[in-house]
Amino acid sequence: MNRQNAIGVLDSGVGGLSVLREMIAQLPHEDILYVADQANVPYGPRTIEQVREFVVGITRFLMAQDVKLIVVACNAASAAALYTVRDLFPAMSIVGMEPAVKPAAEQSQTGVIGVLATQATFQGELYASVVGRFAHGMQVEKRACPEWVLLAEAGDTNSPAAYDSVRRCITPLVEAGADQLVLGCTHFPFLKATIQDVAGPGVTIVDPSAAVARQVGRVLDDHDLRQPDDHTGHVIYTSSGETGAFQRVLGALVGAQIADAADVRGVRWENGQLDWAK
Ligand code: DGL
Repeated sequence: MNRQNAIGVLDSGVGGLSVLREMIAQLPHEDILYVADQANVPYGPRTIEQVREFVVGITRFLMAQDVKLIVVACNAASAAALYTVRDLFPAMSIVGMEPAVKPAAEQSQTGVIGVLATQATFQGELYASVVGRFAHGMQVEKRACPEWVLLAEAGDTNSPAAYDSVRRCITPLVEAGADQLVLGCTHFPFLKATIQDVAGPGVTIVDPSAAVARQVGRVLDDHDLRQPDDHTGHVIYTSSGETGAFQRVLGALVGAQIADAADVRGVRWENGQLDWAK
């Protein structure tokens, strides 16, 4: 593994950008290759087997590009396939996502925690193990909010429709006494201001993105894989969907200036394999 190589980051779509922006802030010298599998978004309502196939295919593509580390910046993908890709590619360091139940349990005053994610994340063993390990004596209320993935994919984070959807999803949790709402899907931090507004000031929204970027930094250090400080990191964004549409959503979510300057390229699925678009 070579420290000059890029870090691979994957998600079903634009959700992983919430992790990516923290990585850019904390690790500005790193090159990053981002894969948005927008041909297959959303992952949440799919079977674990189907999501696993996508994640293995994207991981193979990233390995073929010689990345030095992979971040599965998607809770659904991590739930379905983190153990699988670690088994298949034991020499590769792979950082995944799990719902941040631990910090929520530590901070909760009411003993009630709400976990917001998509169906695939709740189906996986990872979720059960996180709750089993960290939520002793807590009331953990889970809630699937698949509409928020579609809102973020449309770059819509605070329209009346977004507010309606957020209200529908979290009101029962807040009424049940939840004082911590865990964002268990990487698309959801883009709706954080709307969620906070609806939940009110007494509720803490737990967003794990910064902690995941810190973990990436630790893994780089453990393997002596950090780029030197005189290197300026470059991000290549790829989408298996329409690259023009990706660039527009990038503008809506992280700002027009970043989107205009972004290096966006196409990737395509063919016979179960992901490769650069011709
Ligand atoms: N960003 C994915 C996650 O963290 C979204 C899931 C989806 O595509 O439905 O779970």
